[in-house]
Amino acid sequence: MAPAEEPTAATTLELAPPPPPVHFVIVPLVAQGHTIPMVDLARLLAERGARVSLVTTPVNAARLRGLANHAARAKLPVDLVELPFPTDIDGLPPGIENIDQVKDNNHFVPLFEALQKLAGPLEAYLRELPARPSCLISDWCNAWTADVATSLGVPRLFFHGPSCFYSLCDLNAVDHGLHKQTAAADDHDKFVVPGMPVHVEVTKATAPGFLNAPGWETFWNESLEAMRTADGAIVNTFLDLEEQFVTCYEAALGKPVWTLGPFCLANRRDAEAMASRGNAPDVAKQNTVTAWLDGMDTGSVVFANFGSLARKLPKQLFEVGHGLEDSGVPFLWVVKDTEVETPDVHEWLEALETRTAGRGHVARGWVPQLAILSHRAVGGFVTHCGWNSLLESIAHGVPVVTWPHFADQFLNERLVVDVLGVGVPVGAAAPVMIFDDENVAVTRGDVARAVSELMGGGEEAEERRRKAKEYGEKAHRAMEKGGSSYENLTQLVESFRRSGRKES
Ligand SMILES: *[C@@H]1O[C@H](CO)[C@@H](O)[C@H](O)[C@H]1NC(C)=O
Ligand SMILES: *[C@@H]1O[C@H](CO)[C@@H](O)[C@H](O)[C@H]1NC(C)=O
Repeated sequence: MAPAEEPTAATTLELAPPPPPVHFVIVPLVAQGHTIPMVDLARLLAERGARVSLVTTPVNAARLRGLANHAARAKLPVDLVELPFPTDIDGLPPGIENIDQVKDNNHFVPLFEALQKLAGPLEAYLRELPARPSCLISDWCNAWTADVATSLGVPRLFFHGPSCFYSLCDLNAVDHGLHKQTAAADDHDKFVVPGMPVHVEVTKATAPGFLNAPGWETFWNESLEAMRTADGAIVNTFLDLEEQFVTCYEAALGKPVWTLGPFCLANRRDAEAMASRGNAPDVAKQNTVTAWLDGMDTGSVVFANFGSLARKLPKQLFEVGHGLEDSGVPFLWVVKDTEVETPDVHEWLEALETRTAGRGHVARGWVPQLAILSHRAVGGFVTHCGWNSLLESIAHGVPVVTWPHFADQFLNERLVVDVLGVGVPVGAAAPVMIFDDENVAVTRGDVARAVSELMGGGEEAEERRRKAKEYGEKAHRAMEKGGSSYENLTQLVESFRRSGRKES
């Protein structure tokens, strides 16, 4: 061995520590539909060697613990950062930290006010890091992160959860003043969304607008401002699905739009992750559902599930059940625990299960939707048109019955029905979050007709299935090496590797 020497310039270079990995700090909105895709995004970034910190609050962190452990076992550099939830917020009962915990419409605004108060703790956490992160990725609704990023000189991308088609409609509506027109309109007036490359008609009730409601003006303004000052956008979609809208959105925003999805396919080689996304896996339930599906013919089952937020009161719930029964199609139906609280409903449901034994299965509470949609027996999906659900269905080649409930869902429906040609509308016309029990928005006849049409034979149904299958294949290709989403992700990570990180 050579005697110790003064290091030469070359060996000093060799001994210098490697550059720190690219570090993304992700700040999801505290709602399941917004958190789940960002958790998938964290995994995708970490698989490319980036370090990822997911910022949330204690109640939400507890739900994500399984995921963090899972990432640790897979040796992925994903950590959970828990900021204390602000206390003493006027009008917000303690313990509420997630939108799905809100049971009273008056608690939504205070919850958003509480979230804004996380800006201080977030900035403190970032300042304590040995080096500034490479980039902050925050939900479109988390406008309060904008000033934090600016004050630290950290680039910021916003993540918007809906389809790019929806986000473009929303941006065009703002830029062309559509909201002012619809505000003065009658319920049945129709409007064409301006600036779209395809014809899109909306009513006052289905017009685009996130946070665009009375009482939300400040949040809405701040979110629009944060969108304009961001360095770019991340959308959970892929070019072969929405290229024309991505191109227009990029032009309208004047900044890069990174299409990196479908994020749900981050889990495609990992059965446990597929079963647990955003929730502790319920192994017993998963096994029961899988065993039931295993006994059904390929493509024969229609799956019905309506997302984490909307709640059907008995009359509407009965219409769904009877509609599925009347369709004659084998079904797997998910009802929420809160929907079957009373003895009446419970009894009704048991009677339905008895009548449809052998061809109907009712699951109560949360189910592993991704695992179900990827099961060969599932041939159709009755969905509320939340973008995550639609994209999960498309990614697995499953055509849909569309029953939008609120927010972006009505325009997501237009995309899958009119543009992509993979959906049959149930005929819902107006937004509902918690169904009232006087009027039923959708009848058993509507459900039975749409399900039969989707699952039946005939040229149109075959064509829908063919297109869905094709999009499913394209979705998988987009996420493989050489695919558009895979390569976009490479470029995104590389762009921060090149620009390096500032010392604090
Ligand atoms: C929101 O922005 C609009 C136009 O930019 C402005 O007229 C309005 O006063 C703002 N509202 C609030 C509550 O900040
Ligand atoms: C994503 O990749 C496509 C090519 O597949 C490219 O045209 C596009 O510019 C990329 N997006 C960004 C934001 O770089």
